Amino acid sequence: MASIPFHDREGWIWFDGKFTPAREAKVHVLTHAMHYASAVFEGERAYGGAVFKSREHSERLIRSGKIMGFHVPYEPEEIDRAKHELVAKMGFSDCYLRAVAWRGSEALGVSAKHNTIHCAIAAWEWGDYFADKMKGVRLMIAPWRRPAPDTAPANAKAAGLYMICTLSKHAAEDAGFNDALMFDWRGQIAEATGANIFFARDGVIHTPTPDCFLNGITRQTVIAQARQRGVEVIERAIFPNELATFEECFLTGSAAEITPIREIAGLSFKPAAMCEQVMHDFAALTRRKNAT
Ligand SMILES: Cc1ncc(COP(=O)(O)O)c(C=O)c1O
Repeated sequence: MASIPFHDREGWIWFDGKFTPAREAKVHVLTHAMHYASAVFEGERAYGGAVFKSREHSERLIRSGKIMGFHVPYEPEEIDRAKHELVAKMGFSDCYLRAVAWRGSEALGVSAKHNTIHCAIAAWEWGDYFADKMKGVRLMIAPWRRPAPDTAPANAKAAGLYMICTLSKHAAEDAGFNDALMFDWRGQIAEATGANIFFARDGVIHTPTPDCFLNGITRQTVIAQARQRGVEVIERAIFPNELATFEECFLTGSAAEITPIREIAGLSFKPAAMCEQVMHDFAALTRRKNAT
């Protein structure tokens, strides 16, 4: 059965400070964000009714707005409270949340300094990001590269940065893969289209330095947990010619959580002890009642 489109779902959306019936949470077609991608967003998950790393996500939303030159008109604690109330109002235990902030419709041109800034938060029940996640996913090499940090605001979770992600993900799906691995402008391995990437070899974890892509909240969590266990984690430049030397690899992200990888463009990987450990530790943390 096809899923119900988002514009036609029951429930509530927190919209500019108020809980609005989901079907009425609309913006005008001449909204600046729709024409010029002047929007920033967050993807988050709640476990057992508690939003995981809620404060980090709220702060990143505000920070992303700042990088894009606008002020999200809420404090982190107000955004936290809105998310918390929304999850309760929707009656969800485990769900995905999408917070978004954008420039409104007062002016429609490249310059839009005085447009009002809006903010909304939605939540829905959503299982695994990848079908058959536990079997491991297959990645192809993306046709697009992550831009250099002086060609796009790489640290912001900004809507415009996802244009090349959608193109790459579509190309991968058309070719029968689950996702695409993006290189950066130097040809180094960067990340997947909506998740960070990790590799393991001889009990050591290697992951690209996030100098032109998002330093994911899940990524930071996984690094901290691995180090706590005494596993060495090396953040460094990783070039594609090293791929064949790794034993395991996996993706991390709020949507993807921890997803093992079984193939990158013809190279096979076997999810084993390291993937299992990381998945186990992450699951233990997200299931803990007070994991904020
Ligand atoms: C392009 C991209 N990279 C990395 C991530 C991972 O970030 P986080 O762990 O903060 O969700 C995301 C979002 O999930 C993303 O969209």
